[in-house]
Amino acid sequence: MKNFNISATEVIKKRFSCRDYSLEPVDSEKQEKLQAYLRNLPPAPFGSTPRFDLLAATEGDSKSLRGLGTYGFIKNPSAFILGAMPTGESIYDLEDYGYLMEMIILYATSLELGTCWLGGTFTKSKFAKKIKLAKNETMPAITSMGEYRDANQKRRGWTSKTAGSARRLPWEKYFSNIMLDTPLFHNEARKYATALEMVRIGPSASNKQPCRVLKYKNFWRFYMQRTPGYREDIIKKVLRLCDLQRLDMGIAMSHFELTAKELGLKGKWVVEDDLNKNPSALTEYIVSWESQDF
Ligand SMILES: Cc1cc2nc3c(=O)[nH]c(=O)nc-3n(C[C@H](O)[C@H](O)[C@H](O)COP(=O)(O)O)c2cc1C
Repeated sequence: MKNFNISATEVIKKRFSCRDYSLEPVDSEKQEKLQAYLRNLPPAPFGSTPRFDLLAATEGDSKSLRGLGTYGFIKNPSAFILGAMPTGESIYDLEDYGYLMEMIILYATSLELGTCWLGGTFTKSKFAKKIKLAKNETMPAITSMGEYRDANQKRRGWTSKTAGSARRLPWEKYFSNIMLDTPLFHNEARKYATALEMVRIGPSASNKQPCRVLKYKNFWRFYMQRTPGYREDIIKKVLRLCDLQRLDMGIAMSHFELTAKELGLKGKWVVEDDLNKNPSALTEYIVSWESQDF
């Protein structure tokens, strides 16, 4: 992985939602590396240009998350990655935000830092003040960060029993062939099997795993399978939470692309305009990876 000291698949497997950090601040060399990474972010697939910043946590930050629609208690974060997204740059701005924030998270993971995505209503919070959020910007989600509390967390990652592996949908629910309801067999994924697996193990809001990928000729079509009622959830409505499942789609794109590139597979993101965008009430077509290595 470019700029990373370990491979994309290793780092994707190493990441987990870390909610309990060491009391130590983030090592200063790691902070510098992160700041440098933030200054040189890759372009977002749909062209949005959110800005991100690394900021030290202050007293009471964990508690103040509570009123902002996040869940789970975040213990002793020593830093946050905050982001500000200009409104109206692209209809896919949330996917772009998810893609870039996940790139930052993976970079932090490669530096042996613990992270946790936090979806909430930050636009009017003290986090917005910290990054000087402008009127034409929103803050769809933030990331808590810190040094691992103990060596077990370092080793935890994807394969441990307590982490994600046991809590992901099986391969055949995620991936389909030619038609959305026809499962894709592992061997049919050929060179892309690992890229798909990296999509499957990615994080998602409330672990709802909305991403579906359909293979059609040399296209890998990404669909969002909405969780029934998730968007309409009364609490989410009152809090005006952004459409978190679209962030999940951006995360899936980042895992897929990083892995494909690392395996030397050539392709690019395209939106196939002539496709049915809503094959069912809860299913929405988002984007395709047009593969040249097939
Ligand atoms: C967009 C988004 C929002 C999330 N919001 C929260 C949150 O508010 N609180 C929290 O503890 N975890 C949050 N998570 C973490 C998920 O719960 C976690 O990714 C999922 O349960 C899978 O576990 P893993 O990350 O350990 O693999 C969020 C994840 C995503 C992608």
